[in-house]
Amino acid sequence: MDCNQAIRARRSIRKFKPGVSIPRADVESMLEAAMLAPSACNCRPWEFFVVQNPEVKAKLHAVHPFAGMLETASLAIVVCALPEAQADVCEGFWPLDCGAAVENLLVQAAALGYGACWCGCWPRQERVEDVARVVGAKSVPVALISVGVPDEEPPARGFYQADKVTWL
Ligand SMILES: Cc1cc2nc3c(=O)[nH]c(=O)nc-3n(C[C@H](O)[C@H](O)[C@H](O)COP(=O)(O)O)c2cc1C
Repeated sequence: MDCNQAIRARRSIRKFKPGVSIPRADVESMLEAAMLAPSACNCRPWEFFVVQNPEVKAKLHAVHPFAGMLETASLAIVVCALPEAQADVCEGFWPLDCGAAVENLLVQAAALGYGACWCGCWPRQERVEDVARVVGAKSVPVALISVGVPDEEPPARGFYQADKVTWL
């Protein structure tokens, strides 16, 4: 699937085929896409935790209130921010940088035929602390992304809303 199709077909997937492992090259392709996201001052204030271990994945499932789909997901990728990596004129843009990285990752996953779901962490402090503790991060978990082979096919939907656009 090319990028054009992936952006338009991507949906949040919350039901996966259980017991499937994803080739490392595909996971690295998703991570590379994330790291290709634009970044204020090109500080790239992020790091990633790939969780394949079923016990760690179960712990993530237990601490995140809206990540039930982790039960069948092949793996989770926790996108974490390094706020201190941004200073001076670019200070504070890290949530945006990380959001761009998450979206790139989701689109790449869809383009490779996988399903994924963004489960929000930051700015919910409890989730930030719990998820950081589970993966052993000193950075700030922004998103927990469940990834797997889809076992549901929510239809692509058009969201273009002309009334949300002002042309000057
Ligand atoms: C910041 C953010 C946090 C989200 N958190 C969750 C979550 O915790 N659990 C979940 O199932 N979906 C979560 N979602 C997915 C949204 O519910 C989903 O993107 C939205 O309903 C639109 O559906 P679509 O992704 O299929 O287009 C989150 C999305 C964003 C952008």
